[in-house]
Amino acid sequence: MLQVRVKILYNKKIKGNYFYLVLRAPKIAKESLPGQFLNIKVNDTYEPLLRRPVSIHIVKGANIELLYEVVGKATEILSRRKTGEYLDVIGPLGNGFNYPLSAIRYPLSVLVAGGMGIAPLIFLAEKLLKPRVSRHKLEVVVLIGAKTKDQILCEKELKNLGCEVKIATDDGSKGFKGYASELLKEVLSTIDYRLSTIYACGPKPMLKEIAKISKKHTIPAQLSLEEHMACGIGACLGCVVNTKEGFKRVCKEGPVFDGDGIIW
Ligand SMILES: Cc1cc2nc3c(=O)[nH]c(=O)nc-3n(C[C@H](O)[C@H](O)[C@H](O)COP(=O)(O)OP(=O)(O)OC[C@H]3O[C@@H](n4cnc5c(N)ncnc54)[C@H](O)[C@@H]3O)c2cc1C
Ligand code: FES
Repeated sequence: MLQVRVKILYNKKIKGNYFYLVLRAPKIAKESLPGQFLNIKVNDTYEPLLRRPVSIHIVKGANIELLYEVVGKATEILSRRKTGEYLDVIGPLGNGFNYPLSAIRYPLSVLVAGGMGIAPLIFLAEKLLKPRVSRHKLEVVVLIGAKTKDQILCEKELKNLGCEVKIATDDGSKGFKGYASELLKEVLSTIDYRLSTIYACGPKPMLKEIAKISKKHTIPAQLSLEEHMACGIGACLGCVVNTKEGFKRVCKEGPVFDGDGIIW
């Protein structure tokens, strides 16, 4: 974990309230794993006081790319920061997905994203599809869940990586009509799920549903939780979740947890 001032190379709206931010952060980039995150001080004042967690979306050489949605004060300030300015960043934080071991055992990875939960899954898909991760040829299916078709992110990028992409929208404006967790049930009915593992990131109700599905089918699931955070480094206990092994800090022991271990 490092605390560094990093240069903004790019920070632009891609559509709606979604922004793409590229940071020059060679030391953090070198250590980053899929599922880890950065804790960002969006400006140099005490307003807002707290840093904001944002998942590592892509690592390209010395650069870290982030995808974020403007939802409140801090993300709005972040969206106004300019190329050439600097941000105080702590990272990489959290445990990340345990993908190398799973990839050896399970040749089919089903990635499920709800809303902004798509952000860490591109980095994961890229690593899973790297030839060196397993002796087998791995398949990656990504289920992208969004409220409407305008909120679907990263579809093209995932297809370009070689993933099979399926879409679920709440209003049925594209793909399956319903939640990504319902689409997951449908997908599992068409594949040999004994060979698969699930990785998911998104809102808690979606993750809870996926934990149930994975238990029913006895499929391992790694779930990345999006808890509210304060310190982001394990000091304040502001982000704890209840698990079968007691309370765990999402920022330190997580954000990725075994689906079967969480007490919802
Ligand atoms: C490990 C982790 C990784 C994340 N990665 C990303 C990412 O890659 N891209 C991205 O856009 N966002 C991500 N988030 C969420 C992001 O941190 C929040 O959207 C951000 O902190 C909001 O700050 P704000 O001041 O703009 O909004 P606030 O005013 O703080 O909040 C605005 C609204 O968003 C809700 N909210 C804020 N934080 C969270 C949270 N952690 N979980 C659920 N709801 C929240 C609030 O309840 C409120 O309704 C991540 C969160 C975590 C914990
Ligand atoms: S945010 Fe402080 S312990 Fe997790």
